[in-house]
Amino acid sequence: MKDCIDTVFSGIQPSGGLHWGNYIGAVHHWVTLQSQYRCLFCIVDYHAITQAYEPKHFQAKILDMAADLLASGIDPNQSIFFIQSDVPEHTELCWILNSVTPFGDLSRMTQFKEKSQQHNASINAGLFGYPVLQAADIALYKANKIPVGQDQIQHVELVRRIVRIFNQRFGTLFPEPEPMLSQTPKILGLDGQAKMSKSMNNTIEFSANQDVVRKKIAAAATDPQRKRRNDTGNPEHCNIYTLHQFFSDKETIAWANHGCKTADIGCVDCKKALSTAALDHFSEIRMRKETWIAQPDNIKDILKTGAQKARVIAQETMNEVREKMGL
Ligand code: TRP
Repeated sequence: MKDCIDTVFSGIQPSGGLHWGNYIGAVHHWVTLQSQYRCLFCIVDYHAITQAYEPKHFQAKILDMAADLLASGIDPNQSIFFIQSDVPEHTELCWILNSVTPFGDLSRMTQFKEKSQQHNASINAGLFGYPVLQAADIALYKANKIPVGQDQIQHVELVRRIVRIFNQRFGTLFPEPEPMLSQTPKILGLDGQAKMSKSMNNTIEFSANQDVVRKKIAAAATDPQRKRRNDTGNPEHCNIYTLHQFFSDKETIAWANHGCKTADIGCVDCKKALSTAALDHFSEIRMRKETWIAQPDNIKDILKTGAQKARVIAQETMNEVREKMGL
């Protein structure tokens, strides 16, 4: 039975397909929430345009992301699944929330600082106001549970502050959303250093084939203290072990943990077992993705229907917002 009081909202940018990091950290978690909550999942194209992108290829990227999400198990019969720019109320509410968002708070966002360092030729106001659009995404549906990866916690905290200021100034309308973390909210990249992310070029793509998965895992960093085969290791310091905890069954996890600590197994054995478990996890998903990719018109229909459902809720909220604000 769905508990209709709680509403879940989350979004993902269509900038390059899913990779293991955002699949494990967020999307797989979304799939599990669908049967318990009223859920909305959104492909946030307006967020994506704050960074360089190729207009000619943008629609294809959006469709590809939609296919990844559907293949992962986002179920349009259970959840509202749509594209942000199909619901213009997102930008309308964003403007309104801009007028209650403290400038100082925005300038303290770590992600803004990081992104503006990476792209210091093109720091635009959209990149700066990015979390305000995120606040609008959430507030439009009065969502109160926000499943995100670790990197988005600071943004959700700011969203709480923005809605609090709105509620105080104009009268209570929006719930203060809480972040929900998956069991594995942060996946490191193959370098074992930075967060796994497209821009760091340390990812494994969601639909990577067998050869790519095995090769990338074979080359991935492990516990840096375990230099030789006979050294014992600490699984807690190994990204391969973190991945085992997601992909492998209990026995394999225990085997990897004990084998690493005692040097009974080498990193090579441990990595082979991980690749096998991961390929097994993705085998059905990859087949589903191929089926979806072959029917782009069906994907478009699903997204349009999702946007229609989302818009009904968004328009109701906007009526309340206008009334409260004297607009
Ligand atoms: N900023 C999020 C990310 O990059 C995506 C996002 C946009 C989002 N709007 C949201 C996440 C609303 C949660 C809720 O991952």
